[in-house]
Amino acid sequence: MTQVETLQVDLTDRGYQILVGPNLICNAAQYLSPLISDKPAIIITDSNVSQHHLEKLTNSMKDGDIAYTVITLPAGEDQKSFKGLQNLISAILDKKPERNSTLIAFGGGVVGDLTGFLASIILRGIDFIQIPTTLLAQVDSSIGGKTGINTQHGKNLVGSFYQPRLVLSDTTALETLPRRELLAGYAEIVKYGLIGDKNFFEWLEQNGRPLVDGSQKLRKHAIIASCRAKAKIVSKDEKELGNRALLNFGHTFGHSLEAETGFSEKLLHGEAVSIGMVMAFDLSVQKGICSPKDAAQVRAHLASMGLPTRPTDVPNQTWCSDALLKHMAQDKKVHKGKMTFILTRGIGDTFITSEVDNTEVKALLAEAIAV
Ligand code: GLY
Repeated sequence: MTQVETLQVDLTDRGYQILVGPNLICNAAQYLSPLISDKPAIIITDSNVSQHHLEKLTNSMKDGDIAYTVITLPAGEDQKSFKGLQNLISAILDKKPERNSTLIAFGGGVVGDLTGFLASIILRGIDFIQIPTTLLAQVDSSIGGKTGINTQHGKNLVGSFYQPRLVLSDTTALETLPRRELLAGYAEIVKYGLIGDKNFFEWLEQNGRPLVDGSQKLRKHAIIASCRAKAKIVSKDEKELGNRALLNFGHTFGHSLEAETGFSEKLLHGEAVSIGMVMAFDLSVQKGICSPKDAAQVRAHLASMGLPTRPTDVPNQTWCSDALLKHMAQDKKVHKGKMTFILTRGIGDTFITSEVDNTEVKALLAEAIAV
């Protein structure tokens, strides 16, 4: 097969490849078979993905003589919960997995995060493979081994670092993705430009529209650039002791917005990140370290793509700055009681700091939610 790009996540004992290209699901068996034992692989998917893509995967596995069983979850973020985890644990244990069994996460970020977490705890750890089918999962959540669930205390507060054995990103799968989901994934692509690659951001300003509208060539280019950027950061800092935190740009604000909307369809993760990145630029401007021109340029690009850039862009939602602040204070990135922020000196020049006072954050939140 042609047109498949291979990237490597270099980690001492658990490095793995990311393959990006068209029709990888139809041809999955050739990539899966070297990694799967004679125990049936357990494919975990959701009702949406199953409808569009499952047959292509299972046909390939049958052709390749790879035994499998399937667990299909209801679609939606609420599966990433204690209840969802418990149900899935029972469903998997019913299938009598062994230590050499493999889980295949076949879907978006919810399926990937939940399956990865399960793989890390079932029988004290079994292999898993990511076959992400959303743009967001292909450029971010399937790579780097962050797994977990949401709790009433916040997003992803329970989880593990647990790397997949392989990531297969089939660009053809994006053809059935609703535009809103594509845009949510696009926000995470923009993040890579904003955190460390101004040229890539400028490329996105030129190419973002046709990319989201359907250009396979542009999508593949952006996915590869994003995966390459993420693989480089993760290879140097798997457990987020340093620069990996840059990947959380916009996420502290974004997660608090998601928590306030109950992790629901009202605000998708990528949409929350879009708003959160603009808020991080605004905070940087407020602190006098970033030019208002850069902040305006970022807001203009995200808005021109159709992404929300202010909390008030979320329909039928009222916001309370104290509640948002409370969620932010419970984020994983709080250290010695101080919140960690990713701020920016300009497009492509982000840095990690805890030098932000609550009063500054309060002022920013008050302005952001004012109608
Ligand atoms: N999504 C942020 C990270 O994987 O570190």
